[in-house]
Amino acid sequence: MGKVVLAYSGGLDTSVAIVWLREQYRLEVVTVTADVGDHKDVAAIRQKALDLGASEALVVDARREFAAGYAFRALRAQAVYQGRYPLSAALSRPLIARLLVETARKVGAEAIAHGCTGKGNDQVRFDVATAALAPDLRVIAPVREWAWSREEEIEYALERGIPVPATKKSPYSIDQNLWGRSVECGVLEDPWAEPPDDVWAWTCSPDDAPAEPEYVEVGFDAGTPVSLDGRVLPPEELVAELNRLAGRHGVGRIDMIEDRLVGIKSREVYEAPAATVLLQAHRELEGMCLPRETLAFKALVADRYAELAYFGLWYAPLREALDAFVDATQAAVTGVVRVKLHRGSCQVVGRKAPKSLYQFDLATYDRGDRFDHRAAEGFIALFGLPTRVWAQVQRGGTDAPSAGKSRQPAGKAVGRAV
Ligand code: ARG
Repeated sequence: MGKVVLAYSGGLDTSVAIVWLREQYRLEVVTVTADVGDHKDVAAIRQKALDLGASEALVVDARREFAAGYAFRALRAQAVYQGRYPLSAALSRPLIARLLVETARKVGAEAIAHGCTGKGNDQVRFDVATAALAPDLRVIAPVREWAWSREEEIEYALERGIPVPATKKSPYSIDQNLWGRSVECGVLEDPWAEPPDDVWAWTCSPDDAPAEPEYVEVGFDAGTPVSLDGRVLPPEELVAELNRLAGRHGVGRIDMIEDRLVGIKSREVYEAPAATVLLQAHRELEGMCLPRETLAFKALVADRYAELAYFGLWYAPLREALDAFVDATQAAVTGVVRVKLHRGSCQVVGRKAPKSLYQFDLATYDRGDRFDHRAAEGFIALFGLPTRVWAQVQRGGTDAPSAGKSRQPAGKAVGRAV
């Protein structure tokens, strides 16, 4: 009997999939449940898999790897999809796919399987990640294949003694990990409807947040967050703690219309308190430590990076090449950023860095000023030269007084030389 390695969440879809894969494909099912910081009871999930007929049920604590190798990479790249979504779900898929592939190799499986539907991005991420890591492995997506209605799926489950949650199922489809929580479906499918209170789990409403602001100092080492208020923390703890802290102040709610890779526009609601704070703090530190040209180019990279992650191309050579660029920029991004959290807002109010490019004696308007004001004149003459020439040509060669040349001897001299 061949084997298939199934990504198992413990929910109805993947529970049905254990039984269905054995029935339809006559494959032995090995399940993998990865903990990426989603607070699930992995011991109970593991037992459930075995009860449903899995021959082996593995549980992997992947929190540190997820935070350090996926979320913080995206953070250093400033990767945010369509300017809003910090990519929480998108970043976890390539990691889970890698764990599936590794397990498949270990147990000698011929296929991996996941519980994604045929309408979302996640199927693309699992399938393409697997193609990149193990092109010979087959991917089975039971939910995409069986294409049942909810009722048909429940009927199948009841017939085979698969436990169907008795409580009325939450109307939402929820995915969560350290980097954020995504909520879809139910009333959210009406883009005009404000998200009801029961959508939120990690953030309090800004209306109910404490009246007093709270400050937090995030320490970065070469672009990677390493401490909160001076306390050095491992990546997964730092993110978990910041989720709690910023969530208490109602920070990190996102409500957006998003373009899925498969062409559908969908209404998505996210909670990402830690990601929101860290992205803002990191960006601000980069603003202080990176030269203007690097910042401008890096912004282009950020957009492409976010798309690659969103589109399931994490293991594509381009993502690795972009990471090499990003890493090359981060050496100087070390320092501390002070963030103020208050009633849904998160504002950087202070920053310091040993390699700061901010120079007081260049920036100040006070007595300590060392900037050469006279040099500005010549600089502007050359910088403005193309505009001046254009204006002169537009006016048919007449020396229009509005060009302001008469007041700028330096500009005149340069104009003549040309
Ligand atoms: N739209 C997001 C993405 O494609 C989140 C999807 C998460 N899934 C869910 N069932 N809520 O990355």
